[in-house]
Amino acid sequence: MEQQRVALVTGANRGIGLEACRQLAKLGIHVILTARREDKGRAAVEELAAEGLKASFLPLDVTSEESRKAIAETITREYGRLDILINNAGISIDFDVPALEVSFDEVIRPTMETNLYGPLHLTQLFVPLMRKHNYGRIVNVSSGLGSFSKITAGRIGYRLSKVGMNAMTKVFADELKDTNILVNVMTPGWVRTHLGGVKAERSVEQGAETITWLATLPDDGPRGRFFKDRQDFPW
Ligand SMILES: NC(=O)c1ccc[n+]([C@@H]2O[C@H](COP(=O)([O-])OP(=O)(O)OC[C@H]3O[C@@H](n4cnc5c(N)ncnc54)[C@H](OP(=O)(O)O)[C@@H]3O)[C@@H](O)[C@H]2O)c1
Repeated sequence: MEQQRVALVTGANRGIGLEACRQLAKLGIHVILTARREDKGRAAVEELAAEGLKASFLPLDVTSEESRKAIAETITREYGRLDILINNAGISIDFDVPALEVSFDEVIRPTMETNLYGPLHLTQLFVPLMRKHNYGRIVNVSSGLGSFSKITAGRIGYRLSKVGMNAMTKVFADELKDTNILVNVMTPGWVRTHLGGVKAERSVEQGAETITWLATLPDDGPRGRFFKDRQDFPW
């Protein structure tokens, strides 16, 4: 019998990340729900448990090297595998601030560290473990605001981080083209979450659906592509 797949979702205590955990758990995948705040992460695990869904909690602040190393060690020791990595954690803190005025220390740096460098480090940490079992699905959660061909004024920190994430996806996908590790990126659309706000047009279920699809692609599935609603989306 095939071993149960193990998935790690970052920033999963709420929003799209929590919904991705829910959808993956429903498919029988062992979900490691991670969050930077232990109390919030455990509450999310309990929320899923109340729905009859099992997930494990591990702490992870994607911006902390110590935290990233600790989770990689724990997963290697306790599971010996990681099949699916969902780089979902993200912040958007530069709403309505023109690029000419934006603070590097308060906005650009933390946005890049959370949305881009965290996912980059986690990919470097977990690909070796994926290689051991010749299986990996990496899903990077980007944004339409990172679609280079549509860039206009504003949101420079967020846009830079997501354009970078898109580029990172192509680089890793190409470097891993001879393996069974598929790296893709997606945009959930405008989703009703803390980040998206109450006026957003889509539910978390809709936002997470393409994450789940990419997390469970067959071996001959796409790699190095940008998706929305399972369709190619312009870079
Ligand atoms: N909602 C939208 O309309 C929309 C549109 C396009 C793309 N996205 C992308 O979708 C992803 C999920 O966003 P969301 O809408 O679900 O937003 P959300 O409800 O604000 O959730 C963001 C999650 O990221 C976590 N996080 C932030 N910094 C972190 C860090 N350093 N380490 C670990 N976790 C961290 C947050 O944890 P705390 O609770 O501790 O803050 C929270 O769990 C993001 O990458 C976002 O850019 C969202």
